[in-house]
Amino acid sequence: MAKIILFGNQKGGIGKSTLSILTANALAAPDFAYKVLVIDNDMQRSIISIREYDREIVEEEYEDFEFTYDVKALTYHQIREKIVDFDKDYDFIFIDTPGRIDLEQDIKQQEITKLLSFVDYVFVPFKGGALNLDSTLRYAKLLLDIQELRKEKARPLNLYGLVNFYRKNAITIQELSDEIDYLESNTKIRFMKAKIKQYALYERLNTYESLYKKGRTSNKAKQGFSMWFDEFLRIVLQ
Ligand SMILES: Nc1ncnc2c1ncn2[C@@H]1O[C@H](COP(=O)(O)OP(=O)(O)OP(=O)(O)O)[C@@H](O)[C@H]1O
Ligand SMILES: [Mg+2]
Repeated sequence: MAKIILFGNQKGGIGKSTLSILTANALAAPDFAYKVLVIDNDMQRSIISIREYDREIVEEEYEDFEFTYDVKALTYHQIREKIVDFDKDYDFIFIDTPGRIDLEQDIKQQEITKLLSFVDYVFVPFKGGALNLDSTLRYAKLLLDIQELRKEKARPLNLYGLVNFYRKNAITIQELSDEIDYLESNTKIRFMKAKIKQYALYERLNTYESLYKKGRTSNKAKQGFSMWFDEFLRIVLQ
């Protein structure tokens, strides 16, 4: 049985696709060697485009290169059809969804929401700031409704928050901490202790190189990611 994971927030550009790739790269790397599938459900084809670009690069540079995990671009209906088989074949499945929500349509009827019925863990990236707080709170409440519906089911929905784009700055640290308290007390969603900082290395993503380093490393971006990833693993493997 796979762990099916979604980085979700109705807010765009919050790091959903970035976190899916960083985490998938680490889980599939030889250190862990989990069987990983990344499903790109975004019309923008963010992740599948990176994989196609990677393929061109590695085919030039290496003979017999094999990617450590699969990436598939699938619609909601295709996912619904295949999820039972995927669940048998993989250890971890990530579903990357678009950020935008169609405001014309009831959110509960939307495919992004329906996809949540397949998911075991939603990690909600949060950046801080009043605008983000409001949309994150609304999204979190939707997750709580779905969690409630799933309560009696064999596979419950597990919810966590996490801070992305973290920057040490005396004024915002207090604000951010107040905002997290506010979200936690209004939603019962717990935030991960480790925060993901903003690093240029996380922008130069490919779908085959893990940034995970066990123990200490002089590379701060790798060290920060690894601390976060250790906590992520404790959550999903417990
Ligand atoms: N921790 C980080 N440090 C530096 N850059 C980051 C970080 N997280 C995300 N980014 C950058 O922010 C931008 C948005 O990230 P990403 O595309 O992952 O967000 P998204 O939530 O998937 O957006 P969308 O809603 O459009 O799908 C990208 O350019 C990405 O490289
Ligand atoms: Mg995205």
